[in-house]
Amino acid sequence: MTTLPAAQPQSSVSSRAEYEAALQRLREASQAYYGDGDSALDDASYDQLRRSVQAWEQENPAEVSPDSPIGLVADGAAPVGDVAHTTRLLSLDNVFDAVGLVAWGASVQRRLGRTPQGGFTVEPKIDGAAVAARYRDGRLEQIITRGDGSHGEDISHVIGQIDGLPEHLAEPATVEVRGEVAFTQAQFETANAVRTAHGAQVFANPRNGTAGTLRAKDRPYRLQMTFWAYGAVELDGVPYLPAGATHAETLAAVAAAGVQTTAESPAGLHVVADLAAAQQQVDAIAATRAELPVGIDGVVIKLNDMAEQATAGFGSRFPHWAIAVKLAATERQTVLEEVVWEVGRTGVLAPTAILAPVEIDGSTVTRATLHNPADIRRRDLHIGDTVTVYKAGDIIPRVQGAVVALRPDGAQEVPLPEACPNCGGQINKSQERWRCAQGTACALPALIGYATGREMLDIDGLGKTYVAALVASGDVTDVADLFTLNTEQLTAASGSVKRAAKLAEQIEAAKSRPLNRVFCALGVLGTGRSMSRRIARHFVTIDAIRQADAAAMQDVEGIGPEKAPVIVEQVAALAPVIDKLIAAGVNMSEPQEASSAQGAGPLASKVVVVTGKMTGSLENLGRSEMNALIERAGGRAGSSVNSKTSILVAAPSANGKPSSKAVKAAELGVEVLTPENFAEMVADYLA
Ligand code: IVH
Repeated sequence: MTTLPAAQPQSSVSSRAEYEAALQRLREASQAYYGDGDSALDDASYDQLRRSVQAWEQENPAEVSPDSPIGLVADGAAPVGDVAHTTRLLSLDNVFDAVGLVAWGASVQRRLGRTPQGGFTVEPKIDGAAVAARYRDGRLEQIITRGDGSHGEDISHVIGQIDGLPEHLAEPATVEVRGEVAFTQAQFETANAVRTAHGAQVFANPRNGTAGTLRAKDRPYRLQMTFWAYGAVELDGVPYLPAGATHAETLAAVAAAGVQTTAESPAGLHVVADLAAAQQQVDAIAATRAELPVGIDGVVIKLNDMAEQATAGFGSRFPHWAIAVKLAATERQTVLEEVVWEVGRTGVLAPTAILAPVEIDGSTVTRATLHNPADIRRRDLHIGDTVTVYKAGDIIPRVQGAVVALRPDGAQEVPLPEACPNCGGQINKSQERWRCAQGTACALPALIGYATGREMLDIDGLGKTYVAALVASGDVTDVADLFTLNTEQLTAASGSVKRAAKLAEQIEAAKSRPLNRVFCALGVLGTGRSMSRRIARHFVTIDAIRQADAAAMQDVEGIGPEKAPVIVEQVAALAPVIDKLIAAGVNMSEPQEASSAQGAGPLASKVVVVTGKMTGSLENLGRSEMNALIERAGGRAGSSVNSKTSILVAAPSANGKPSSKAVKAAELGVEVLTPENFAEMVADYLA
């Protein structure tokens, strides 16, 4: 099929030929979306393409294709069955922001000829598949898919498989309940585990899984789904609701009969007086999205009063009395470029997907978690695949699955490591999560060596050999164990009572290092010396760091939306080590003088870049010590010269030629200082 690579922008449609091509892409993508196939376009790209086609049709009404999917329910793509709907089962029009909602409000007012009097309801837009469930005398007789809105497929074989849609009501009512079926996150995990056990491929996402599961008749296993009603209509002409019932009252009646409604979802159903209040509820629901037990792709606003609904009426595709405010896509497609393997503190081999950059839920994603080798195979991932990536709120992005239809010719399966990527030794493959056969001994000596170094805990005399001995004996399993070593253990590692006593002194002294050094010694991914200083200065205490969520972590300069959740997760995973450090009496706060330096001092609000080997009184300072000096004097250390650089400290080069950084600084008009000039400027801050 003709498909668009994920990275290709879906530009606006500006000619008849582009229009035809765009229609074709829309048809293919919506067939997959409403059916159960892999879509070659993610939702955000689909919406964008759809809008450009719609705009072209509005500008060129004479040229609209007679079979354009734009005017059809479900874009005319859903499998159509032979069961006639009682009344048309329509779709919803979308807006994407508060301005769109206000515009919808104006259109409603125009249709009613006045401001709505009955208020509005606000409820979640569940991301699943629409069904109509027919109850006769309280018994669930038939479930029908939406199809093309006037006819759907009979899927009554799933009766009993859907939580919230009981086979018997609490009363002998005859009514058709309409709503959305979806997998909750928990049901989705179970469904994929069951499929794996049966040798079937995991579902790429909950919505795809739901569409497939509703229509599947001959699977050797049953997967449980969940229903949320968002409406009810009369069936067989039997009156069900009292005249004048509002939308909220309709759902309450259905709930009383035993059917789950959107009002019972954690996002709830809210009745509000006006659209300003509705917008507030939209924001509130959007804020809880990541914690909801089921995926939502928007929030639906409806006129609460049925008489007002009737006056507003219907278009061919949508009711005029309801609107969906779409939320940012949490899922996008992009290209899997590479998989890298890192060895964690405990020796676990963690695969990370390196992705072509893609914007998801307000941030650019370039890396995503791939849990373990078995999971990589279950998802059938190949290098170069277009993959679906999921990210919501603060969570770490994850790869859901590959779009097999877009796989490049000759693409290779993701290679799995044959030796430990850290030490080159054997891998223990006995569990799903592979580990280096050396376990903690693989990465730990390097981590402890790093932690005890001069710029960190600065435990003088504790060299590589002793560290290796302490790790090998099992006396040190993490950095906190260093602080509870006894004389016998230190003697055994160093081979002498005298050396042990000296080491014990040094270790005691290391207990009072500032928080930035202790934090850095923990080895949190992505937090080197400078970043640790910034984090410690910002939060001042370890408690504050531990309490920070990803949003709070982003308040630290240099931490963006991609890094923040990784740091938060790692800090949480280090809880036992941090607790041990506290129990051992290690200092866990940042001295206030250091934390007040920023904003004051001769380098206040200046970005300073250093190049070359320092001379004069700065001669003995390495790069990290120079960075610390810059920060003590109130500035910020930069690594490359750019328009934000205030000062370049440039040591004279050996060959007499200016360095590339010095050339760049001259081009940009950045002040260039010799190490001696700079030392004078920060003399008060030299340690
Ligand atoms: S009301 C006649 N309310 O979203 C109006 N729809 O993209 C019928 N959906 O076709 C729709 N949650 O399948 C409504 N709370 C909700 C919904 C909801 C999910 C689905 C429904 C609809 C689709 C439109």
